[in-house]
Amino acid sequence: WVRMVTAQTPTNIAVIKYWGKRDETLILPVNDSISVTLDPAHLCTTTTVAVSPSFDQDRMWLNGKEISLSGGRYQNCLREIRARACEVEDKEKGIKIAKKDWEKLHLHVASYNNFPTAAGLASSAAGFACLVFALAKLMNAKEDNSELSAIARQGSGSACRSLFGGFVKWIMGKAEDGSDSLAVQLVDEKHWDELVIIIAVVSSRQKETSSTTGMRDSVETSLLLQHRAKEVVPKRIKQMEEAIKNRDFGSFAQLSCADSNQFHAVCLDTCPPIFYMNGTSHRIISCVEKWNCSEGTPQVAYTFDAGPNAVLIAHNRKAATQLMQKLLFCFPPTSDAHLNSYVIGDKSI
Ligand code: DP6
Repeated sequence: WVRMVTAQTPTNIAVIKYWGKRDETLILPVNDSISVTLDPAHLCTTTTVAVSPSFDQDRMWLNGKEISLSGGRYQNCLREIRARACEVEDKEKGIKIAKKDWEKLHLHVASYNNFPTAAGLASSAAGFACLVFALAKLMNAKEDNSELSAIARQGSGSACRSLFGGFVKWIMGKAEDGSDSLAVQLVDEKHWDELVIIIAVVSSRQKETSSTTGMRDSVETSLLLQHRAKEVVPKRIKQMEEAIKNRDFGSFAQLSCADSNQFHAVCLDTCPPIFYMNGTSHRIISCVEKWNCSEGTPQVAYTFDAGPNAVLIAHNRKAATQLMQKLLFCFPPTSDAHLNSYVIGDKSI
């Protein structure tokens, strides 16, 4: 027999960034972070997990290609989920798996991203969240999504925020064993559904410095990171929670842009400095800043992760349409700095 479960998990984009770990193995951050989860129709991972007595080892395929599961991050997630496995009985298929059997049974995992893995669009976040969620269902684990988020976190920090829709906060926690470092939903996806998220793909090349290496160097060398984690982010988290609760787009945009810019300032303050944004990214920032300024009140927020692609969050559908017109005008396909493609992370416009 084979028992199978399929799950689908969207990616998330941080508006208050996670950058820096206080524990590298458990993946515990130096500050809280807040993200928005994208619509699963656009950027998501679909993972099927299967168990059978005929499988002789754990194996995984990513976009059809076999990958190794021997890395510490996969092993930590598998171990944590197996420890929570419960009895499963499916009378129709004649399947009965006792709690103690899960230790001996092997798993097969097949995962697909509906977006280019190398495009720097937070693929690990959706990937680990989906893996942990699917395994929890397969093994009948009773943990709620916050408890599962603490396991997904051990695969990739940002993954813990993809267990929920809407706006999500990753609480850094204080415990040394990481038990209180988990994600909670601030509001669900219906709370602020007029927002439209557009991802302008500046480059689909794989980034030169991975988030993991980059943040390790920043923790070791950047004084600005220390200041940010202790003095800046705690205040910003409170202000951002307020802005989201009140659907206050002006404050939301100001905080998101400021936090993205400070994260990239920390990267520049790192030794050796890390350059994630490029000239086109900078031009997008100028274009949005000018437009927001001329309107008197912000219409669009921008945020950039560990790569040059822009995530643009428009106040509403009208602002999103105007933004697309501006981007197409400023970055025509014939120019050196044209944008490769656009991904509409929410509704299409
Ligand atoms: C800039 O979660 O990819 O996207 O925990 O080492 O796997 P690891 O790093 P990762 O870092 C994400 C960094 C970021 C900001 C964010 O998503 O909060």
